[in-house]
Amino acid sequence: MRTTDAVFQTKDAILYLANLKSRLIDMSLERWTAVDEYYGKLLMPPDPQLESALKKSLAAELPAINVAANQGKMLMLLAKMQKAERILEIGTLGGYSTIWLARALPKGGKLITLEYEQKHADVAQENIKNAGLSDKIEVRVGSASDTLPELVNEKCPPFDLIFIDADKPGYSEYFKWAMQLSKVGTTIIADNVVRDGEVINPTSEDERVQGIRKFNEVVTAEKRFCATAIQTVGAKGYDGFMIGMVTD
Ligand code: SAH
Ligand code: DHB
Ligand code: MG
Repeated sequence: MRTTDAVFQTKDAILYLANLKSRLIDMSLERWTAVDEYYGKLLMPPDPQLESALKKSLAAELPAINVAANQGKMLMLLAKMQKAERILEIGTLGGYSTIWLARALPKGGKLITLEYEQKHADVAQENIKNAGLSDKIEVRVGSASDTLPELVNEKCPPFDLIFIDADKPGYSEYFKWAMQLSKVGTTIIADNVVRDGEVINPTSEDERVQGIRKFNEVVTAEKRFCATAIQTVGAKGYDGFMIGMVTD
């Protein structure tokens, strides 16, 4: 065989494998999406308030990075299981996960959600109003690195559940404040801790991945926090949640 033939064969093989890989990824996403739809139909009846929240967020050109419906329902169930009366969310976007979480609250319960973008907060505020939850939810605008210390300074009573879902480079800092706003038994949940599995790549150039890796260092160093990480697949791709509890 001539060298040139070998080069062509290698090139063809690489192209073939790359193509196969991307087709397999598409097939997985298709299947994950189909299963999300299957369970969506079984477990989640049509929900005009949440559907309208997504529609309005899309119309206002907010990024479609809200949690999926089944994940939102999981958050609601976790808050209910916790009997949460006070919930803190970091990263509101259009208020989709906010509405899910606030639905778990009893009468007199309260949710504070922190959002950096005024525009996102405005869309969220309207969606929250449409969902009839204005009396339970407070949207605070500003960077969480300012609004979290403000909460601590105000001697804000501890939260029962805290959901971290804002900018990933901020996660480690937000977690430290979250610990200060917790009591024994508080649940802390963080979104997007897997990122297509990139989280295991120490040399990733994605600042979001590095943000999660730093968060993981801080979490593992915190002896008062007992956590697990769960990988998820679905219509939104491959990602995961960190779920844990404050123990001391
Ligand atoms: N929890 C939402 C999605 C949040 S997306 C849901 O599932 O429906 C992340 C949000 O965090 C965006 O709206 C972004 O504007 C906001 N964000 C980014 N940096 C922030 C910061 N420093 N402080 C607070 N919010 C921030
Ligand atoms: C991104 C952020 C999120 O909170 C999410 O759930 C998905 C993607 C992002 O910044 O790309
Ligand atoms: Mg998220």
